[in-house]
Amino acid sequence: MDSTHLGDDLSVVLHTEAELLARLGELAREIEADYTEEPPLLVGVLKGAVMVMADLARELRFHAQMDWMAVSSYGAGTKSSGVVKILKDLDADITGRDVLIVEDIIDSGLTLAWLKENLESRGAKSVRICTMLRKPKALKVEVDVAYVGFDIPVEFVVGYGLDYAENYRNLRDVAILAPHVYGGEE
Ligand code: XMP
Ligand code: MG
Repeated sequence: MDSTHLGDDLSVVLHTEAELLARLGELAREIEADYTEEPPLLVGVLKGAVMVMADLARELRFHAQMDWMAVSSYGAGTKSSGVVKILKDLDADITGRDVLIVEDIIDSGLTLAWLKENLESRGAKSVRICTMLRKPKALKVEVDVAYVGFDIPVEFVVGYGLDYAENYRNLRDVAILAPHVYGGEE
């Protein structure tokens, strides 16, 4: 689905599909240069990271094995609390492996900080993070992120895997959702 199919649901398109793919190409070259001994296991965080994972994995010029986790962060309303529950765990044993977490977005950083520590505690050789988007001004904890697609403003964004009430994930671009959609002020 393209942004043009959504009427006035979106206020601004931040990054088009073409921009996202071009940036992922650049990140893939960096990742290939960093992992010269053994390709990392790509760990995607469901559901938002599905699109990034699909595009990044196909950009990479090595065998990119993929595994998935689903986590939910407890907290009041839509804000992340840092208390995370695993809904679906990895299939792979990551002891001694290089792991690259693939994420759609880092907001407060609480989820990713927890996840990185969790995977490290399982004996992974290394755990790095690749995220398509990051809201630097929303960060509440320091998270070491090795690969960032784009830094964006503190706005609620949808598309390219990101949802509002499970919709908009299949939008090709990343866009700021118009406040009237969620009952906010314009
Ligand atoms: P934290 O705050 O722990 O949370 O970094 C990251 C998770 O919060 C969700 N999130 C968003 N989802 N548009 C979305 O559709 C957004 O602008 C947004 N900001 C945060 C997302 O699930 C992410 O994994
Ligand atoms: Mg997510």
